[in-house]
Amino acid sequence: MEKQIGILTAGGDCPGLNAAIRGIGKTAVSHGMQVIGFKDGFRGLMENRYVRLDNGHLSGILAQGGTLLGTSRDKPHKMLLGGNTVDMTNVIAENYHSHHLDVLVCLGGGGTAKNAYKLHQKGLNVITLPKTIDNDIFGTDVSFGFDTALHIAVEAIDRLHSTAHSHHRIIVVEIMGHRAGWLALGAGVAGGADAILIPEIPYDINVVAESILSRSRRGKRFSIVAIAEGAVSKEFAEKRNTLENELDKEKEKAKRNRLKRELKDLEVQHAGNTLKLSQELEKLTGLESRLTILGHLQRGGTPSAADRLLATRLGTACVDSIREGIFGVMIAARGDHSKPVPLDKVVNKLKLVPSDHPWVLSARDLGTSFGD
Ligand code: F6P
Repeated sequence: MEKQIGILTAGGDCPGLNAAIRGIGKTAVSHGMQVIGFKDGFRGLMENRYVRLDNGHLSGILAQGGTLLGTSRDKPHKMLLGGNTVDMTNVIAENYHSHHLDVLVCLGGGGTAKNAYKLHQKGLNVITLPKTIDNDIFGTDVSFGFDTALHIAVEAIDRLHSTAHSHHRIIVVEIMGHRAGWLALGAGVAGGADAILIPEIPYDINVVAESILSRSRRGKRFSIVAIAEGAVSKEFAEKRNTLENELDKEKEKAKRNRLKRELKDLEVQHAGNTLKLSQELEKLTGLESRLTILGHLQRGGTPSAADRLLATRLGTACVDSIREGIFGVMIAARGDHSKPVPLDKVVNKLKLVPSDHPWVLSARDLGTSFGD
C-alpha cells in the first residue's frame, strides 16, 4: 500500500513554509506516496479538516509567503474548546489512524516540536522541520524564515538611518524575538545599529544613554538602537531570574501558583518596554527619540533565496527519513547537509545567543553598545 503522509504547519507563520511543503510534497508524490495537508495546525487535525495535496496544489507556491495550510498556536493537549482547555490528544491520534497515516510531519518552532514529541510518546510517527524567524530552535544550525526576516529588518534599519540622520534623532527599532535575540543582533550588526539590546545581555539604560551622548560629542547627532522585543533591563532580569529559580525549586502547588502569577505580572509590566525605553532615552540624552515597531512585517511576504533553499532541502531530506523509517526526529540543518536529531534532544531547550558569539564580538570591536 502507498505510504500516507500527513503535513501540518503550526505556531507563527514564516516565509519558507510553502517551499518546505512543496519540497516534502513533490518528493513524496514522486515516490508514489499520498500527501494529506491538515488545516490550521493541530486544530485542523483534531477537527479532521484536510486537503489532499497533489502536484496541482504543490505547484506555484515556492515563492509565496505564509502557509497554504493555515496555522494556529493550538496545542493537542491544551486545546481551547468552548472556553475550556481540553486534552484532545486522543482525538488527534484517532484521526491520525483513521487516515492510515505512516507519519505526521509538523513544520514549526520549539513549541511545535514539543507538541509533536508528546504525540510521538503516544505512539504516533512524527517528524518536525525547524521554522521560525527567531532562529532559536535547539539542535539545528538555522531555521527557515530567519534569513528573510533578517533581510526585512536590515532594510528597515537602512531606511531608518537616513531619517534619523536628517532629524538628528535617536530611532529605537523593535525587532521580534522574545527570549532569543538572533534577529535583533543580526539585523543590528548588518544594519550598523549603534546600540543592540537583546534578551541574553540585559542592559542598563544609563549605559545606552551614555553611548549615545558619546556619539554626540564626536559629532554624530543621531543613533539607531536595535532592540529585541524581549530585551530586558538588568533590574528586570534579576527579578525574573530570582522568581524562576524559586519556581524551579518549589514543590508545593499553592506556592508554585503564586510564583507563576508573579512571573506573569512581571511579564505584563514588561509590555510597552521599547516605548518606555525610547522616552527614557529622550530624557537622559536631550535628543528627540522615536520608536518603530517592525512587528509582523518581519514574518510576511516572499521568502529569500536562502530560505527557499533551506526549506526545500530540509523538505526533501524529510522524505529520505520517511523512506528509511526514521521517526521521532527533527530534520536539522548541519552546514550544507541535514541530520535527523531525536526530538528528546530538541524539546524544552532554546538556542540562545552566546555572549561570545562572533557577531557580538565583532559588534563590540566596532564600538556598538550592548548596554551592559
Ligand atoms: O513566531 C515567532 C514570533 O514571530 C516571535 O518572534 C514573536 O514574539 C511571536 O511570534 C509573535 O506571535 P503572534 O504572531 O502570535 O503575535
